[in-house]
Amino acid sequence: MLEHGNLLYFPPAPGGAGFPIPPEVIAALTGTTQDARAIHKNIAYKPNKDAVSGLVDKSQAGVTRDAMREYSKRALAFMAGILPEYAAQWKVDYASFRSIEERGRKLPLTKRNDLLHVDAFPTRPVFGDMILRCFTNVSPSQQREWLTSDPFPALAEREARNAGLDRYAALPGPDSAKRAAVRVLHGMGLPVVDRSPYDAFMLHFHDWMKANAEYQKNCSKYRFDLPPGSTWLVFTDVVPHAVLGGRLAMEQTVIVSRESLGDRALAPASILERMAGKGLAA
Ligand code: SIN
Ligand code: FE
Repeated sequence: MLEHGNLLYFPPAPGGAGFPIPPEVIAALTGTTQDARAIHKNIAYKPNKDAVSGLVDKSQAGVTRDAMREYSKRALAFMAGILPEYAAQWKVDYASFRSIEERGRKLPLTKRNDLLHVDAFPTRPVFGDMILRCFTNVSPSQQREWLTSDPFPALAEREARNAGLDRYAALPGPDSAKRAAVRVLHGMGLPVVDRSPYDAFMLHFHDWMKANAEYQKNCSKYRFDLPPGSTWLVFTDVVPHAVLGGRLAMEQTVIVSRESLGDRALAPASILERMAGKGLAA
């Protein structure tokens, strides 16, 4: 099961992957370029705004948006078909296009994709809900090389306290004056985000894992060579992951409600709350 930390894999099939992607969509994506120096790591598509960001050559925006809209639509329909209980409550997040070769990519440490990490979004706290991502390798020729490690229960037991869980568990709750003030400023349009202690910890944990040479070196590693045309689904906050090589991948994210899990206790937030002995996600 996905929430136990498995990767759900769909091999390439004639005409597409776990779901078909029209050849003209693939052609539009493979013709898209992205400036490696851009502040954006990937090209993003926001389904609710029907807009793309992260492109340097703005003349590509229309074509890229149309192709990403099509991928997003098909990925969401595919995911909803196999995961109806999640789909009933999930929040649709962004889609992304990863057009830059990952092998040898030069990025600052906390943005590096080749170091094992669990995902957390700086601008979009999840309050204990979970990050489910559907990836498709849209390269016609290159595999995408992934590394994963033991999922969140084992990871948390081994590293959460070392990473400072107790400090984060002591952060102010939602009723504190400090967080109320942040919400007011956010409402006024300022670029500040009200985070639960869980969200603050996960953001920190993401960076801490990447910076921890001992963890990177000694943790268990599982290698996946994902062929052109394949699709895979994974909770990227449950499964530590890294991409070592490959280019041209598409991805769609949904935020799955903790309440819709078959077993709520498997959510990373539930695991950390048990360790901390208190609620962390409000
Ligand atoms: C990541 O989510 O860390 C990168 C995965 C990928 O682009 O294949
Ligand atoms: Fe990631």
